[in-house]
Amino acid sequence: MIRTGLMEIVRHKEIADRVFEMTVIGQQTTAMQQPGQFVHIRIAEHSEPLLRRPISICSIEQETLEFTMIYRVDGRGTQLLSQKRPGDSIDVMGPLGNGFPVVASPEVHAFLIGGGIGVPPLYELAKRLAESGVKMTIILGFQSKKDVFYEEQFKEFGDTFITTVDGSHGLPGYVTDQLALLQEVPSIYYSCGPHAMLHAVEAALPNIPGFLSYEQRMGCGIGACFACVCPTTKGNGDYVKVCSDGPVFQAGVIA
Ligand SMILES: Cc1cc2nc3c(=O)[nH]c(=O)nc-3n(C[C@H](O)[C@H](O)[C@H](O)COP(=O)(O)OP(=O)(O)OC[C@H]3O[C@@H](n4cnc5c(N)ncnc54)[C@H](O)[C@@H]3O)c2cc1C
Ligand code: FES
Repeated sequence: MIRTGLMEIVRHKEIADRVFEMTVIGQQTTAMQQPGQFVHIRIAEHSEPLLRRPISICSIEQETLEFTMIYRVDGRGTQLLSQKRPGDSIDVMGPLGNGFPVVASPEVHAFLIGGGIGVPPLYELAKRLAESGVKMTIILGFQSKKDVFYEEQFKEFGDTFITTVDGSHGLPGYVTDQLALLQEVPSIYYSCGPHAMLHAVEAALPNIPGFLSYEQRMGCGIGACFACVCPTTKGNGDYVKVCSDGPVFQAGVIA
């Protein structure tokens, strides 16, 4: 059930270059069930910035009614968000969208592949998969060492490999360079990151069931404004709305 209301910030800190981890508390957390869903945040009480900003749910703690987001300061909205302090409130709409299906079998070997600010939604997914005894191999790609976050947290769930484009930490190159070095083949994979990375991951793991989380510019976040439409591989003008049909789609759906 989608809820909208004020939530209080309980923790907020910079964890990598321009990357912030924010934990908020409130009753809305009880509605957050599926990893990979997102919230839509109204940044300011006044009319600017007008549109809400979509941010993924990174971690859900039902016992304390808290959930955590990780965001990178990009433009005006996230810059204003980064100035908020513990004790301040933010207007949160969510949970929105369809997240990752959680397979629940110790027979499964899942690859989790994240790129940059696409890493956060994989964290709650990893928690759920670990509860089901799923074996995980995790690959996280960043531009540079200063951008890396949550390496230690993911290591708790399985073999964790880091790649950086400039080679300053982990394997030099892209997540697909690390994929090519691995001996094992996954039974399922999950990925979130830039479109180009998602397409490269799909191509590197053909014939394996995969679930990919897409980002698209958004307006309403609930399927009403068509701001977030994406063409599908069916062609002929067929499209999906990333906010309400996704953001997670099966591999092979998005063109
Ligand atoms: C489903 C989903 C989950 C996301 N999860 C995260 C996350 O966990 N952490 C994170 O840092 N970022 C995430 N993003 C991207 C984030 O929404 C944008 O970086 C953010 O909206 C930029 O806002 P801004 O005001 O700083 O930038 P501006 O450039 O000032 O934003 C202007 C407008 O563009 C939209 N916009 C800009 N970039 C994007 C983008 N990449 N995707 C969608 N809309 C965009 C904004 O919503 C706003 O309406 C997610 C996006 C989507 C669609
Ligand atoms: S953002 Fe309005 S339809 Fe998706």
